[in-house]
Amino acid sequence: MRCASPAGTRPPDPVRRLRLLAWSGRTRTRPFSSRPRSSFACPQLRASRRGFQPSLRRRPRHPSGLLPARHRPGPRIRRGGGAVSGALLPRELRAGLDRELARYPARDLAEAAARLSERYRAGAGGVHLRGETDVAAYAAVRMPATYAATAAALHRAAVPGFLPRRHLDVGGGTGAAIWAAAGAWPSIKEVTVVERDPHAIDLGRRLARASPALRGTTWRRASAGPGLDRPAADLVTMAYALGELPPEQRPAALRWLAADAAMVVIVEPGTPAGYATIAAAREVLAAHGLSIVAPCPHDGPCPIRQGEDWCHFSVRLPRSALHRRVKAGTLGFEDERFSYVAATTMRWPRAGARVLRHPGRRKGMVSLRVCTDEESVRDVTVSRRQGELYRLARDTGWGDAWPRTGEEGDEPP
Ligand SMILES: C[S@@+](CC[C@H](N)C(=O)[O-])C[C@H]1O[C@@H](n2cnc3c(N)ncnc32)[C@H](O)[C@@H]1O
Repeated sequence: MRCASPAGTRPPDPVRRLRLLAWSGRTRTRPFSSRPRSSFACPQLRASRRGFQPSLRRRPRHPSGLLPARHRPGPRIRRGGGAVSGALLPRELRAGLDRELARYPARDLAEAAARLSERYRAGAGGVHLRGETDVAAYAAVRMPATYAATAAALHRAAVPGFLPRRHLDVGGGTGAAIWAAAGAWPSIKEVTVVERDPHAIDLGRRLARASPALRGTTWRRASAGPGLDRPAADLVTMAYALGELPPEQRPAALRWLAADAAMVVIVEPGTPAGYATIAAAREVLAAHGLSIVAPCPHDGPCPIRQGEDWCHFSVRLPRSALHRRVKAGTLGFEDERFSYVAATTMRWPRAGARVLRHPGRRKGMVSLRVCTDEESVRDVTVSRRQGELYRLARDTGWGDAWPRTGEEGDEPP
């Protein structure tokens, strides 16, 4: 989708501007900033407000050749690692969760959440949820975060033209990924969840009834893997579940996932271990003939040395009052770190580079650490003198695509 206001037109009147914003899916007010967002969404609009048109030839192109991710529909992810309106649970899901969780004393949920986090901390891949209360505690403290991370990953994988109809979510738990995918792609008409835990299925199914797009979901209780006939799907997701399989089973499971999918998206916690799982998955998917669409701008070896660093991103989400009680937390938000890979069988426009850290912002200067399509990690700077490129850098956040125009300066050591 392209923003309007072609060169040579006069600045849009307020009504037209609102229409343009509605078209680009950006009519809501940014909750954590008073900066008016209207014309900042589009370089051409921004320039036209100041009474001049930028040279289109010099306008930095989005890596995909299309518009920056923020112009596309789908979950609205605010840049810069700040608050994320797309990270908010959909209203029906929030209400459903509140209803479901109200059936449990907060204390029971808190104890179950503490036991769960102990078991996760002990490093057990394959932590089994032990019964209904464990599942409810998981939904209370983890589902909002896994939803937000998966929504962010899908948002970065989505480009116009990919309109999946069938979605398969593996290790779906209480359904975070199907809600995220339904938000990113209203084109999805058939949804199947493969999940081994019956209590997770029960809760996921009850929650999904609130959504017209998800109430027809097929919930299949099974252990995912090559022994299971795989429902046909254009989009396959596996969020926070691959790491629960024994490492030796993962390559076969990934090939099973990828069977006839146009796109496979795997999300894991943004820890060194989660990244290692993603890096290995990426290799299996590439060897299977898929091309990596995000976050990597290339299919070559990952330039990040394991043990020294890890590729991960972050999404900020609000905590509900119940969440704060159950988690004994005081902050009104949390940052969920995640690693992910999205791979596709299609020809795909790909980013020239991906921002790997919170950009450094000094007066008149933005520093970016980027992974580039030359299979290397570079630190680059963009200065105010670079006009549109600087404004683009200023609007760019951790995890966003970067066009890598070659005009950036190398960061001084
Ligand atoms: C950490 S939860 C993640 C749930 C959900 N995807 C999310 O993002 O919130 C992992 C889920 O994977 C399921 N799981 C693990 N191994 C599985 C397997 N081999 N087949 C099916 N489900 C599996 C677990 O039962 C659990 O519900």
